Amino acid sequence: MKANELRLKYIDFFVKNHGHKEVAGASLIPENDPTVLFTTAGMHPLVPYLLGESHPLGRKLVNCQKCVRTDDIDEVGDATHCTFFEMMGNWSLGDYFKAEAIKMSYEFLTDKKVGLGIPKENLAVSCFAGDNDAPRDEESAVVWKELGIDKIWFYGKKDNWWGPAGQTGPCGPDTEMFYDTGKEPCEKCAEVGVACKCGKYVEIWNDVFMQYNKTPEGRFEELKQKNVDTGLGVERVTALLQGVSSHYETELFKPIMDLLGENNDVVARRIIADHMRASVFILGDPKGVTPSNTDQGYVLRRLIRRAVRFMKKIGVGEGMIVDIAENFIKIYGESYPELVEKREHIINALKQEEVKFLKTLVQGEKEFEKILPNLMKGSSRAISGRMAFKLYDTYGFPLEMTKDLARESGFSVDEKGFCEAFEKHQQLSRCGAEGKFKGGLQDSSEATAKLHTATHMLLAALRKVLGDHVYQKGSNITAERLRFDFSHGEKMTDEQKKEVERIVNEKIKEDLPISCEEISLDEARASGAMGIFGEKYGERVKVYTISGFSKEICGGPHAKRTGELGSFKILKEESSSAGVRRIKGVVG
Ligand code: ALA
Repeated sequence: MKANELRLKYIDFFVKNHGHKEVAGASLIPENDPTVLFTTAGMHPLVPYLLGESHPLGRKLVNCQKCVRTDDIDEVGDATHCTFFEMMGNWSLGDYFKAEAIKMSYEFLTDKKVGLGIPKENLAVSCFAGDNDAPRDEESAVVWKELGIDKIWFYGKKDNWWGPAGQTGPCGPDTEMFYDTGKEPCEKCAEVGVACKCGKYVEIWNDVFMQYNKTPEGRFEELKQKNVDTGLGVERVTALLQGVSSHYETELFKPIMDLLGENNDVVARRIIADHMRASVFILGDPKGVTPSNTDQGYVLRRLIRRAVRFMKKIGVGEGMIVDIAENFIKIYGESYPELVEKREHIINALKQEEVKFLKTLVQGEKEFEKILPNLMKGSSRAISGRMAFKLYDTYGFPLEMTKDLARESGFSVDEKGFCEAFEKHQQLSRCGAEGKFKGGLQDSSEATAKLHTATHMLLAALRKVLGDHVYQKGSNITAERLRFDFSHGEKMTDEQKKEVERIVNEKIKEDLPISCEEISLDEARASGAMGIFGEKYGERVKVYTISGFSKEICGGPHAKRTGELGSFKILKEESSSAGVRRIKGVVG
């Protein structure tokens, strides 16, 4: 079975056989979560609904979500870890719970007609062992036993608890499904069980019972509604169904691995392919990211540069970067048409970044070799944070690359020291989105809702002052400020900025009610509601209206009345890209 068929089969199973509604996958750049840089799981765009907000498509949802996780970057190159990956998921927002979720997972995995036809003898599962925060999950184990699964292990939070995605928010115990490859058990298998890392068991699906909310104080409170959140890895399951030992051997990667040739350094080839695929998807995202030294742009830069360095290492010529990208666009273009639409941008950005980087790479590597003999003489086996930062700052060496170079010579890097040097230069992005927004999602939810409402008011005011050519091109909210990109060809004058602020503040003073209705996309468009350029909407949407002032299609959350915002101020107006301006602003 090819990945395309797996995606369709999963969606069909939950839509046709079990009454779910398909939601469009969201952007890789989270719109309302200041605690992370990328969408890391299918549940991520659904957090407000898991916390109780009603979803326009109902209580049972299914989709395929593109995700990026950078925590595992050091593991990339093995058979299972990916930086970018696709997650299939089904959700119950206060509808079905444990028994039904497990039965559906089992049916999809084992049924030969509507599912994947995996023999149940090859399945093993794990359940939550219980602790002070939540009880042992015997309920799930009983359901598995009734279904005829007898390989069941119990583990603690480390293995059988999922979430929250940021520091606070919905989370809960989970039951994980593993494929038993049939390999001979290693000496630890009997004692460790499915969690054994020897390769006998491969985790394929995770059913999370999201019934708790983690508070900023670290408490686990029962949620108003009991949810189910599941995640099945497309790459892993595709490999498994094709009987190959890693996703690099499936149609998703094979053409690229072939392009990279027969070189013996399999890990390098895998890293190149993995990082290039992630870069193509980040560049091709409708929210539009380009390589830079901050936030998502910096992660993208690291990925491209690391791929280029490994290409050099295994002797792949310049220009290959374009061939690889073209192949990924071809492989994924049908399922992700945004890659085809943004083809030119993807190719150009990759070429430019490669040229920029190659210019400094040679000098940087020389610099590294220069410091090496001195390091060898010293007793420390670590490269100082200051030196790692110099390589970054002067030669554009992302930290991961210095780590790679260091590792190759038997050294480590003082990462903490690097982050300190980095912060000194006020470039906080690599040093953890966690550190940057200490409050977490829940903590900042009220501030986020207000800022979100402010973006709607800002758009309405901009259209009044500048004209109807103004549309939203992007938005990003942190706990402290809003950032709003919009179509407009020139710098705003001081008078225009003042007038926009005045209008928004006038509407705040009027304390207008903000209402929300759930209607079809056609009705919403016909009613004149504004939408976001490039956004994919489902067939039913929420429309937020600020009486007599603004009407927008939007997922929420929002303030109840404009008065809650207190006041609005523009901090900065600047160019974002050709024909697009950017405003940063605050409320309160
Ligand atoms: N959110 C869960 C995961 O990512 C399903 O594994």
